[in-house]
Amino acid sequence: MPKKLTEADMALLAFAREVHPRAYAPYSGFRVGAAVFAGGEIFQGVNVENAAYGSTICAERAAALAAVTAGHTEFDAVAVVGDSEAPCVPCGACRQFLAEFNPAMRVIMGGRTDAVDALRLDELLPEAFVRGYLDQDDGDDDA
Ligand code: THU
Repeated sequence: MPKKLTEADMALLAFAREVHPRAYAPYSGFRVGAAVFAGGEIFQGVNVENAAYGSTICAERAAALAAVTAGHTEFDAVAVVGDSEAPCVPCGACRQFLAEFNPAMRVIMGGRTDAVDALRLDELLPEAFVRGYLDQDDGDDDA
């Protein structure tokens, strides 16, 4: 069910849409642009495919890498624009990757049409595996 988007959502989506044509997707032909909002700044990314298909990097992770490289590890929102007719959701691996930097961030999605959608990341990935699990010490040194 499409949610109402705010002006801030639409602004971030515009950054994802702007970068979308720069996707490098010669194999799938499916271009994706993404924009992360973190620390008051915008970081863009595109999917970058590779002849070794498994080495492909998704747009969301490319944008997240740019944000972290600039020193931001707390994200407010991510926008994704893909070549799909329906608003493009982040893949499972990207959901997990993004959850590291705020499981409750806003996710704004767009596609080839004017249809848009927005959800919280924890709606797309409930019960994410986050660093808190690693900090749980069972007191057994041998474990
Ligand atoms: N892709 C993304 O960039 N983000 C996603 O969340 C879904 C998939 C890319 C990977 C690949 O280059 C192409 O879309 C087709 O799967």
